[in-house]
Amino acid sequence: MSDTEDDDTPQLSSHALAALQEFYAEQKQQADPGAHDKYNIGIIEENWQLSQFWYSPETALRLAQEVITAAGEGGRIACVSAPSVYQKLRELHREDFSICIFEYDKRFAMYGEDFIFYDYNNPLDLPEHIPTHSFDVVVADPPYLSEECLRKTSETIKYLTKAKILLCTGAVMEEQAAQLLGVKMCKFIPRHTRNLANEFRCYMNFDSGLDCGL
Ligand SMILES: C[S@@+](CC[C@H](N)C(=O)[O-])C[C@H]1O[C@@H](n2cnc3c(N)ncnc32)[C@H](O)[C@@H]1O
Repeated sequence: MSDTEDDDTPQLSSHALAALQEFYAEQKQQADPGAHDKYNIGIIEENWQLSQFWYSPETALRLAQEVITAAGEGGRIACVSAPSVYQKLRELHREDFSICIFEYDKRFAMYGEDFIFYDYNNPLDLPEHIPTHSFDVVVADPPYLSEECLRKTSETIKYLTKAKILLCTGAVMEEQAAQLLGVKMCKFIPRHTRNLANEFRCYMNFDSGLDCGL
């Protein structure tokens, strides 16, 4: 037996120490992400209590490309409850459009002035500096597959958009989406980073490469 005083000090196992180091590294990254990965999908972890299911990077990129084309040169894009599309748009480092992220989860306030707090329960409770019909295109992915959630989110979408809408939600919402927003289901199937139990689809009210049967 050693006779040093340190022998009485409680020690962490190597597993516990590794887990602790990983925890601190994640905390540090969330608090101070490097400029390079600030817009990585997943930098903010999914919180299933908030119905957060992130798109795969490929789907986020495809949707981002569609809305860039739809917005046109110097266009304004609103991402409503669709933070991965916002992140992908910013990751593309293009200066020829502007973007706002409307989100309930205040962790996304890390994106500064782009972030606008938004609760679908109060669809028109938006800041004064966001006038009606001020976005060329709105992309939205409401948190719940219910008529009430889609109806309220639709109020926000119609307030924000000049005309163009890209909605992602469950296949079961097809009829209500058509009634509320005049959007049609596309052939393109959005994918998520995890497999979801519900079938998801995209819906649009304009012609696009996502092939919406318009
Ligand atoms: C089904 S997820 C859509 C995310 C999308 N698949 C993506 O990857 O960007 C629903 C989104 O609604 C947001 N949300 C949750 N509660 C909300 C609320 N009360 N009002 C508005 N948005 C909410 C979540 O934070 C989440 O970003």
